[in-house]
Amino acid sequence: MSKIRRRAFVLGLGTLAGMGTSIVADELSHLSNQIQEISDRKGDFTVIRNTPLRKRATAKGLIYGATSQHRILSSDKKFAARFAQECAILVPEGELKWRTIHPSPNYFNFKPGDWMVEFAHAHGMLFRGHTLVWHGSLPRWFADTVNSRNVEQILLKHITTVAGHYAGKIHSWDVVNEAIHPPHGRTDGLRNTPWLQLLGPNYIDIAFRAAAKADPQALLVYNDFGLDGAAYQDELRRTAVLKLLERLKSVGTPVHALGIQAHWWGGVTRLDSGKLKAFLRDVADLDLKIMITEMDVTDKKLPKDVILRDRIVAGIYEDYLSVVLDEPAVIAVLTWGLSDRYTWLSKYQPRKDRAPVRPLPLDAQLNRKLAWNAIGRAFDNAPKR
Ligand code: XIL
Repeated sequence: MSKIRRRAFVLGLGTLAGMGTSIVADELSHLSNQIQEISDRKGDFTVIRNTPLRKRATAKGLIYGATSQHRILSSDKKFAARFAQECAILVPEGELKWRTIHPSPNYFNFKPGDWMVEFAHAHGMLFRGHTLVWHGSLPRWFADTVNSRNVEQILLKHITTVAGHYAGKIHSWDVVNEAIHPPHGRTDGLRNTPWLQLLGPNYIDIAFRAAAKADPQALLVYNDFGLDGAAYQDELRRTAVLKLLERLKSVGTPVHALGIQAHWWGGVTRLDSGKLKAFLRDVADLDLKIMITEMDVTDKKLPKDVILRDRIVAGIYEDYLSVVLDEPAVIAVLTWGLSDRYTWLSKYQPRKDRAPVRPLPLDAQLNRKLAWNAIGRAFDNAPKR
């Protein structure tokens, strides 16, 4: 029996042995290392403090929060109460995206967003804006209506109206989301989106300038994913993002922070702390703040065993956050959801064995998981801002 299989059986993971055919050898060995490491690790993430995450983050000058939805917070009272207990910042999962807030060319639907900003402020939480420019979540009318003659005016109207509506109530805006995609083959690494096709790379500058004008108080963020891992494609993405940020700063475009989404894949994403730290330093050297904006840990490739799965997920949170929180430019950590009861991953990355996914700090019953403790511990150990 191979070392991996022996280890799997020692841990009671019969399932892992059967997974070999669907996982490439490289991933399997990373997964087995992750299992080995987590079972060797001293300290088991047992909850040692009861203080909510928002307090533990605040104690270090950090902000902890999560995404949720109007529909959820207004109907699930128990969840809403737990959310307010744990989070110091709320980001709407879809309510401020084009498709929801701008459903027809001359109509803006502020109702769900307005409800959320009030909920946030009523519970002493900050509120984030997500997102003003993205290739995703475009409304149906977009493709038929927008062309190279009217695109700039439509973009400006959207930003002026939406950022203007929430002006003074927003901690930070994800002004541009996911603009980098090196496989599209451009030397600047930009993603080939309708915005790029119709306006050229300057669409990013136009958006940041309009957002600064509409809401001079908000921290203006460029937000993207795939910036954390050791893989070559992440390296390419880091290089392209840095180039973009350098260019924006050099022409005086008002960008204030980088948002790192941090959607991790258990058993797949590898941490290279040296590379990650150097990247964060490079970003900070541009006089930019950094926010971890959408962290979660996909458990699709992890063993079914809940005890082991939760340990691996917790280990990823703690290892990653202890590296990023060492960088003083990092001011906030947000998870993409708070409880496994509501996570986009149930739909977007379900497990093949159909076991419920467990990517977030609280379980589906709103109990604290090992991941909750790992995040809290990372805050406790973080240097004070
Ligand atoms: C996701 C939402 O969670 C889903 O509910 C929605 O259907 C699609 O978008 N990166 C982002 C977020 O910036 O806007 C995405 O949110 C998740 C990935």
